Amino acid sequence: MDELRSNVRRMLNNQDNIRIVGEARDGRETIQMVQELQPHIVLMDINMPELDGLKATEILAKDFPNIQTVIMSIQSEQEYFRRAMKAGAKDFLVKPFSTSDLVDTIQNVFNRWLKDRPELFANEPRAEILTFFATKGGVGKTTLAVNLAASLASRGKKILLIDASLQFGDVAITLNQPAKKTITNLAEAPEITLAEVEKNLIKHECGLDLLLAPKEPALAEMVKSEHLLKILDAVTPVYQYIIFDTPPNITEKELAILDRSNLVLLVATLEISSLKNTKICLKTFNDINFDMSKIKLILNKEIPNVGIGKQDLEAGLAIPVYATVPMESEIAQRSLNQGEAFVLKSPTSAIARSIIAMADSIVGGDKTQETGKSAILKIKDLLFGS
Ligand SMILES: Nc1ncnc2c1ncn2[C@@H]1O[C@H](COP(=O)(O)OP(=O)(O)O)[C@@H](O)[C@H]1O
Ligand SMILES: [Mg+2]
Repeated sequence: MDELRSNVRRMLNNQDNIRIVGEARDGRETIQMVQELQPHIVLMDINMPELDGLKATEILAKDFPNIQTVIMSIQSEQEYFRRAMKAGAKDFLVKPFSTSDLVDTIQNVFNRWLKDRPELFANEPRAEILTFFATKGGVGKTTLAVNLAASLASRGKKILLIDASLQFGDVAITLNQPAKKTITNLAEAPEITLAEVEKNLIKHECGLDLLLAPKEPALAEMVKSEHLLKILDAVTPVYQYIIFDTPPNITEKELAILDRSNLVLLVATLEISSLKNTKICLKTFNDINFDMSKIKLILNKEIPNVGIGKQDLEAGLAIPVYATVPMESEIAQRSLNQGEAFVLKSPTSAIARSIIAMADSIVGGDKTQETGKSAILKIKDLLFGS
């Protein structure tokens, strides 16, 4: 029996979505541990001292209806299968079984259980996706994305910044990080899992996680919108905010990101060309029935006496300015050249304060709780008795 347990443990060792939370030697101990650990799934041997597996399964089914039991037994006869199911087991594994038999059975039982509980998904905390966007280069998308992300991360939020400006991404250089690992690795990966994404992140010292753009434009083509969506599927349960930096285009890839975003931070400056492009951008979104309520206008590089003011921008675009960031060229340029976020390096500057205030209002309107619990739905906590 010790041997069975160590075999099962070995088989499940490399499964990143299955976690063994306890092991019991007999039926009685199993019940005690279930009470304490409340696992999702119990792997139960039939032949056990004290209280046998069928009896223990019956008790679990009655007292803990949320806990799913899988019976393991050498007897492959119909009779045992029938008795196990009657006792309340959800599936049956005949020994000896392979790793894939074991993993598939656990996965199936868990999936069936989850399918009947949509309310669990409704409450599952998921990352808010914030995307900085503009149909013009140089307006400050990267500057704002990097600094907002750094500001949120420095308050202990779990933040991922994804550089989706795939041809000429600037996030790495803006934060002085070596692009040793990039999103290209994920496009090449056989499967995009959370573990795979995590392997390819760069961890910034302020606590921010970065997924960097390809090193050269020729590699950008490798990354398709389905890769971006799969990456989001993998990471949204474990982050509080995912922030996208984007290129000034509206292609399938940007639309895929924008569709998934909770907030689109549309960046404009007080230049007639920015006003014109932002207007066209808004009209395009409207034409394709994009959810306009997600769009927030950010006025960056605000400066007085340039012939266009905040009111003109609001009137011209027919949407209010959500946040204003002043022009502060010296700080912006220096922090860029030194590879440090100004929200951390010069937090009292006007430009930093405006971004910190933006972070405040984003966090203030945030109803998602800490992500600690969210991973639980992805992890099948497992207890087994044998
Ligand atoms: N509020 C600001 N004040 C002064 N300079 C800024 C400001 N925001 C951005 N910049 C500067 O503008 C240039 C373009 O910014 P960047 O973030 O690269 O734009 P984008 O990503 O939209 O192309 C950079 O040199 C940056 O330092
Ligand atoms: Mg940029």
